[in-house]
Amino acid sequence: MHPKSVLFVCLGNICRSPAGEAVMQHFLEQYAAEHQVRVDSAGTIGYHAGNQADSRMRTAGEKRGYSFHSRSRKITAEDLETFDLVVAMDRDNFRDIKEVNPAPVAEIKLLSDFLDDAWPLDVPDPYYGGHAGFETVLDMIEASIQPLFNYLTQTDSR
Ligand code: 4NP
Repeated sequence: MHPKSVLFVCLGNICRSPAGEAVMQHFLEQYAAEHQVRVDSAGTIGYHAGNQADSRMRTAGEKRGYSFHSRSRKITAEDLETFDLVVAMDRDNFRDIKEVNPAPVAEIKLLSDFLDDAWPLDVPDPYYGGHAGFETVLDMIEASIQPLFNYLTQTDSR
């Protein structure tokens, strides 16, 4: 079976989207579903290209059992032709992703599309804030991951 693919996208690809990648990868391993879904992450800016995830994000995530292996990279027009689903962390990311490729093949969604209305629309950028911001990022991603997985693996249109 052709695996589905999901690309998590934030601004710098060092905080929120590497966490999305790590939480999804952990979920896949937990359910032995690594071969069903391919997961990656990217940023809308290339400023941190080549860097590991932010150490504050890694510390918060590792405490919850996640491991971080990504290196920051900027999203490309090709990403929007090759991934099935692109998940933007906030509405700025969503707008910037659309500018990268005006005719995307990939479906583009907000992470909060997979959450109920009690959650904010945007995953708040934790970069300039304190520790709590990183926990909020993880809370939101964790709540989204089962619905996101179901959506990816249960849609037959692709
Ligand atoms: P991220 O966080 O988009 O979640 O990776 C940020 C990382 C870097 C910057 C902003 C947000 N920055 O301005 O360099």
